[in-house]
Amino acid sequence: MSEKHINWLFLIPSFISVLPCCRSIEVSIPQKNYRAVSGDDITLTCSFIPARPDNKLIVLTWEAYPLKSGDKIKTVATYFSNNVVDIAPAYEGRAFLEVDLNQQMSVLRLTKVTAQDSRSYQCSVRIPNDDEGTPTATTSLLVLVPPSPPVCSIQGRAEYWQDISLTCKSEEGSPKPVPVWKSYSVDNLPRRFPRYCKGWPIINPQHFLSLFNISREMSGFYICTSTNEVGSASCNLTLAVMPPSMNIGSTAGIIGGVLAGFVFLGILIFCCCRKKGNKDKNAEGYVWYMFM
Ligand SMILES: *[C@@H]1O[C@H](CO)[C@@H](O)[C@H](O)[C@H]1NC(C)=O
Ligand SMILES: *[C@@H]1O[C@H](CO)[C@@H](O)[C@H](O)[C@H]1NC(C)=O
Repeated sequence: MSEKHINWLFLIPSFISVLPCCRSIEVSIPQKNYRAVSGDDITLTCSFIPARPDNKLIVLTWEAYPLKSGDKIKTVATYFSNNVVDIAPAYEGRAFLEVDLNQQMSVLRLTKVTAQDSRSYQCSVRIPNDDEGTPTATTSLLVLVPPSPPVCSIQGRAEYWQDISLTCKSEEGSPKPVPVWKSYSVDNLPRRFPRYCKGWPIINPQHFLSLFNISREMSGFYICTSTNEVGSASCNLTLAVMPPSMNIGSTAGIIGGVLAGFVFLGILIFCCCRKKGNKDKNAEGYVWYMFM
């Protein structure tokens, strides 16, 4: 509510400054949002109406504003009067700027866009004695990235009666890819998920497919397809559910522990026998009491 009020308050003075006309510049970008697939080229167009078109002194700048705070504002390219164009080093070779003073248009072309080019772009025009009105305009560019091949893995032990999770995660992809799991039997026949598998199809933020109380029948191939509006990629997990095995590591540990206990007992008995020889019988009784 209060924000809306403030916006309106700001609009009033800008109307006043625009309405008198003819002494103020008007910069605009007709298209408010651009979309491109990564690797493609994109052309952003900005138009400007100077208050005094005869004035040939002009500086037109395109800047890239980060979508998330913390990143820096980057100057992409600047046009100076007499057709001097300066492309920022970070954009050298892949940004091209044209300004047509008769058409009152500027075109910024970005080639081979990447996810890092998903930004807000501002076109600003500076002309001496023509700084009232709207000297800047912005638009946004969303670069769509197809999902990278997902990394899939099994969390937990693939043994009878265990609960496990299958994970599927694409490192890249914009918008965020959605994983969809399909299962095939050991004979490679498609099948539905067992009924006690929570939720089907599975679409959750952790990219998990949870399987509860697994049995041998759940062995097979699990295919996760990670999809967004510009592509998809999949992985193929083989799940082989085994009988619960005696954990060899822990068995060895128990045997070792028992053996160590016996050795300790042996040493104690040995010490007591020696004490029996050296000292009186009360001491012996005391030691045995402690041990029991
Ligand atoms: C797990 O599955 C077995 C059969 O495979 C069943 O006997 C057992 O009751 C199940 N356990 C739970 C906790 O659902
Ligand atoms: C998954 O892999 C198995 C063996 O590696 C193969 O037989 C099966 O056809 C694959 N499934 C898909 C859908 O790619």
